[in-house]
Amino acid sequence: MSDRVEQLKVLLDEAQTVVILTGAGISTESGVPDFRSPGGLWEKFRIVEYDEYLSSEEARIEDWHRRFFMADQIGQVEPNIGHTEIAKWINNGKCTQLITQNVDSLHLRGGAPQDKIIEIHGNATTESCISCSEHHSIELCRTLFEATGESPKCQSCDGLVKADIVMFGEKMPVKKTAEAFKIAETADLFLAIGTSLVVNPAAGLPLHAKHNNAKFAIINRDATELDNFADCVVNGEIEEVMSAI
Ligand code: APR
Repeated sequence: MSDRVEQLKVLLDEAQTVVILTGAGISTESGVPDFRSPGGLWEKFRIVEYDEYLSSEEARIEDWHRRFFMADQIGQVEPNIGHTEIAKWINNGKCTQLITQNVDSLHLRGGAPQDKIIEIHGNATTESCISCSEHHSIELCRTLFEATGESPKCQSCDGLVKADIVMFGEKMPVKKTAEAFKIAETADLFLAIGTSLVVNPAAGLPLHAKHNNAKFAIINRDATELDNFADCVVNGEIEEVMSAI
């Protein structure tokens, strides 16, 4: 691993504009499981797609069980070295922008400024009505769920409430996605950390950056879909690798 870390250090030194994409792997050392590793969330829960969420109360109830499970975990954990190192790189100007697929707010809590974080899949710590956009806290959603045994309904208009995240099968937020691709174009080093790079459109960002002349590096425990396209792949635990950089 040490040769690869040295190679990554050189790429970081040479780069003026580093854009980072993170995935669930950055939060596992805080205690939040990722999705696709053994023991990951998609082993415990089924993916409920957006259309199913709209049409089936049973699917909504299933999805809320996962939401509350994740909220409990997120509520108990702290940012780790990965989050705080990235925040340092942003605050000292080395990293110009962070794009994250994570919905756990740990980058923000780890010191990354809000205006430098694009949460491309939204944020699970807030919930809104699909019909009138009224905000509902997760605590209120849980109280309603436990009192009725039904999925939480909007307290203003009785519409369906949903976490402010992008579900599978749901349209990506157009402005945010376009912004992420524009930012990828500005990178001279695009660094993907803790993501399997299988979910689009986020997985398209590194190659978009590369087509716009960026170098592309990966820090990840396991192989990713895009290792063959990367200029440097460091396989290891994020906290260990980031501490060594
Ligand atoms: N150090 C290094 N790598 C790690 C660590 C760690 N401590 N923990 C996990 N990883 C790596 C795993 O090897 C895996 O390749 O992080 C990657 C996480 O991959 P996924 O579980 O697929 O998560 P992610 O890529 O973020 O998923 C993308 O899929 O289900 C959706 O919406 C969800 O945003 C998520 C999207």
